[in-house]
Amino acid sequence: MTDWIAEEHRYLFQNYGRQPVVIERGLGTRVWDVDGNEYLDFVGGIAVNVLGHSHPAVVRAVAEQAEQLIHTSNLFYTKPMIELARMLVEHSGLDRAFFCNSGTEAVEAAIKLARRWGRDTRAGAYEIITTQDGFHGRTLGALSATGTARYREPFEPLLPGFAIVPWNDLDAVRAATSERTVAVMVEPIQGEGGVNMPAPGYLAGLREWCTERGLLLIFDEVQTGIGRTGELFAFQHEGVRPDILVLAKGLAGGVPIGAILAREDLAAHFVKGDHGSTFGGNPLATAAALATLREVMAPGFLARARESSARLLARLRAIEDRHELVTSVRGRGMLLAIGLARECSAQVVDECRRRGLLVNNVRPDAIRLLPPLNVTDEEIDRACDILEAAIASLDAPPK
Ligand SMILES: Cc1ncc(COP(=O)(O)O)c(C=O)c1O
Repeated sequence: MTDWIAEEHRYLFQNYGRQPVVIERGLGTRVWDVDGNEYLDFVGGIAVNVLGHSHPAVVRAVAEQAEQLIHTSNLFYTKPMIELARMLVEHSGLDRAFFCNSGTEAVEAAIKLARRWGRDTRAGAYEIITTQDGFHGRTLGALSATGTARYREPFEPLLPGFAIVPWNDLDAVRAATSERTVAVMVEPIQGEGGVNMPAPGYLAGLREWCTERGLLLIFDEVQTGIGRTGELFAFQHEGVRPDILVLAKGLAGGVPIGAILAREDLAAHFVKGDHGSTFGGNPLATAAALATLREVMAPGFLARARESSARLLARLRAIEDRHELVTSVRGRGMLLAIGLARECSAQVVDECRRRGLLVNNVRPDAIRLLPPLNVTDEEIDRACDILEAAIASLDAPPK
């Protein structure tokens, strides 16, 4: 029998720390490995699988689109990308869409659009203010915007033109603003940074400051978008609309895609030839995205996801009450994390996996939970039973 893990070690770049599971099949919240072991998947493709694995609507859309047309390039018009753009525009309050293939590429598009606008209207202003522990991607522009030294330092010198300030600190944003500043870019909830919530009024304060100083507000909703936090977009909780919205991950239910949405007057600064992507807006990806969005926007779907989130949060808070090891429960919707009293998240992940639950150690002292939005009550209860058993196995005596 093939040892797939040994083969991976032999043939792939060793740049990922993978969990030792070779996943072969998935359905809903469950996956099976090559040995037939079943797991509850609360990693969800890192916030991608909003509808779970192999949702019939996505499978059907991909299969039908693949039979009809997979790819043509942006030298032509295709229907799914136009329908998807219309749907995103109608639900976001922004005016135009650009499609690409990943989160980092979407961030690159946002950076370029901000710089283009700064050049055309703000005397060449180009600097973008971002936040410590913010994550925007791995390509050089997005990495330059990312506020985590260990990701950045090995690749310095990076792109100039980013001012990285502490998260949740409006005064720091104000102090970092100069005539060079063109935009502020944040995640409405920091995902990779450990599921860090915005302080009350922080996002509204950023909106106010940007409006007052003529800066663009860019929300990177690669992780928080497409229902992940219980609204289609996280900014809708706050009533704070960005000028540019960055999307990817959940948008096509698992098929690679990225997008930015922007106001009409901004979008107009990308003229023909300014930006592009061979695969961007590809019929297969945009058909998958249309199917995904139709499910997420179906009446009652997000309300049900919010109820499930409340159940999961209540269970997590009960675990926090019973175990010294758990020091916090944070997040919103189906983007949740528990903080740990010591740096043992990798062991919690291992203990969970041994018991049939996949979770992610987003920080050495935090576990992130990203179940699909349509996770069932029974799956939530089973996952929490396993999580609690894993924690108990590492915990000091119960409180
Ligand atoms: C907020 C945010 N922006 C950008 C990215 C980069 O997305 P991708 O991995 O698709 O390039 C991520 C990935 O985790 C993210 O969470």
